[in-house]
Amino acid sequence: MQVNKIYQGDSLELLKKIEDKTIDCVVTSPPYYNVRDYGVKEQIGREQSVEEYISKIVNIMRECKRILRDDGTIFLNLGDSYFGDEIKDKPDWVKAKQKLLVHYRIAIRCQEELGLILRNDIHWIKQIVNYQTEESYGSSVPCPVQDRLGLNSEAIFFFTKSTNYYFNLDSIRMPYKESTIKKSKVNRKYSRESPYKGQFMSTNLNPLGKNPGDCIMFPLERAREKHIAMFPSIIPEFCIKCGCPERGIVLDPFMGSGTTALVAKRLGRSFVGLELNAEYVQLANKRLQQLKK
Ligand SMILES: C[S@@+](CC[C@H](N)C(=O)[O-])C[C@H]1O[C@@H](n2cnc3c(N)ncnc32)[C@H](O)[C@@H]1O
Repeated sequence: MQVNKIYQGDSLELLKKIEDKTIDCVVTSPPYYNVRDYGVKEQIGREQSVEEYISKIVNIMRECKRILRDDGTIFLNLGDSYFGDEIKDKPDWVKAKQKLLVHYRIAIRCQEELGLILRNDIHWIKQIVNYQTEESYGSSVPCPVQDRLGLNSEAIFFFTKSTNYYFNLDSIRMPYKESTIKKSKVNRKYSRESPYKGQFMSTNLNPLGKNPGDCIMFPLERAREKHIAMFPSIIPEFCIKCGCPERGIVLDPFMGSGTTALVAKRLGRSFVGLELNAEYVQLANKRLQQLKK
């Protein structure tokens, strides 16, 4: 397979054509279970049973692991689903109103069956509230339900193939809060008097900034393209910066409108894209052409 190209077809079939250990980083957001209709036969996400859906995604992850370099990384964005009447074939635990925890079931199978190492389950926060001060940050789609809370986060699972993997934390560090810096100065004073002579301070704060942690607000973007489920470009940007070396290859097996490809190019990486819907492939190629111009 060539790089910097989007291939049209079923991702599992296409993945089988990619050579072992050739990809540096996978960044992807597959269709969620029973949430959207992408209008194409063979699409993932419309299965009669949740188990069938889970197995399909796990099979795709198996192939992703095979084609990943030993030091490669995988970022898998997945949301959860609730029981819906359309689900015909269901085990006992799938009851009316049940939150299915589909994304965590997939993550656990990736650990147990595929031997992938889960390094983080990043909480992609779309909106967060301070219940005490009644302040809200970020945005979310208004939730009409009356008997439970709305869903304002999704997961981004960060997996590696081995314990020795590429990870550039410095590329995603964030400025410390003023109060943290002030507190650290106090610590320094304290530690000068202590037998450790400043060691507390010197190991405390990194001059390049802090580790952003696993609860991150990635603001939603206004969709300008004809795709119903684009992720904000800041998500692949974050994943590629820390998880893919410069000039490495990023794979997105559910390329949609091409967001991952665009960001990969912008950051000086190559990409390989797979997408079932031919119209989306066209859309993604159009966006890539615009980027070139
Ligand atoms: C959540 S969207 C990805 C959106 C993408 N991240 C973006 O920003 O545009 C999931 C995509 O998977 C595609 N898809 C569904 N079933 C597929 C399959 N079997 N093989 C490849 N792509 C598939 C859908 O057409 C859809 O574009």
